[in-house]
Amino acid sequence: MTPASQTKHFLDLWRLEAGELRLILDEAHRRKAARAGWPKGRIDADAPLAGHVLAMVFEKNSTRTRFSFDAAIRQLGGASIIANAGDMQLGRGEPVEDTARVLSRMVDAVMIRANRHEDVERFAQASVVPVINGLTDRSHPCQILADLQTIEEQRGDVAGKTFAWVGDGNNVCASLIHASGQLGFSLRVACPADYHPNLMDLARSSQGDVTVGHDPVAAVKGVDAIFTDTWVSMGDTDHHERLAAFEPYQVDDALMGLAAPGALFLHCLPAHRGEEVTDQVMDGPQSVVVDEAENRIHAQKAVLVWCFGLI
Ligand code: CP
Ligand code: NVA
Repeated sequence: MTPASQTKHFLDLWRLEAGELRLILDEAHRRKAARAGWPKGRIDADAPLAGHVLAMVFEKNSTRTRFSFDAAIRQLGGASIIANAGDMQLGRGEPVEDTARVLSRMVDAVMIRANRHEDVERFAQASVVPVINGLTDRSHPCQILADLQTIEEQRGDVAGKTFAWVGDGNNVCASLIHASGQLGFSLRVACPADYHPNLMDLARSSQGDVTVGHDPVAAVKGVDAIFTDTWVSMGDTDHHERLAAFEPYQVDDALMGLAAPGALFLHCLPAHRGEEVTDQVMDGPQSVVVDEAENRIHAQKAVLVWCFGLI
């Protein structure tokens, strides 16, 4: 077993060493291409994680993260065990650290979706096996990997491109901010003043070119892609205030029309049609939302092999 101090956790994009994010994305592209046209359940030719078990622990709802990690570990030759935290002793107050020490003896890696980011950090501190952040209140690194893979499939290397984030400066936005400096793209965030990205996340963009303003029209002019997300994330309680504050931030055809011709529309899903995005944009020719969802599988396979030191 790897000593705890050398275990490779995937907790946030800003924590990766220079070049590692590029390495992971390249592996995601390579593995996807290598199995083009195959049935979804067939194991990759090299079966790099044969005999390995991934545990998945969910404190919040999930469709894409749950299914994509399960498909990912199977395609790598491994197996999964999935549990909702509410069904575990974790849900009755067993300390995160005790759960981490016990699961470290039973599985080879753990993916956690947690209410509180610090719980994932604590879990990783106590875990001897790799821990992967499957979304917290603060970040969603696996989502942004899949999103960047999607853009690169359509438009080539993200380096030198400019993207806009319109809406809530939330967990998904934070991971996009973290990636900007590492991969060399510019990011313009347009959000209401009360829903600004966390200043710590801006500081962690590794010298990325990130600007934050309140005008969606100014933010999207000429950009290569527009990202948005729900106005009310899991755990948010100020539903009515949010709907009012975000009304001017809907992504519609008029806003898409201000971006570069053929600009892509990205959304991690689930979407609230008629709120942050119109049906026309979601279902329109510039939308790549379903590709993003599929690429969760390929991007997370790359994360898994990285965690095991195989790339
Ligand atoms: N985008 C995403 O993480 O979706 P789920 O909440 O369905 O996992
Ligand atoms: N920001 C959203 C993302 C869901 C995948 C949330 O945290 O609920």
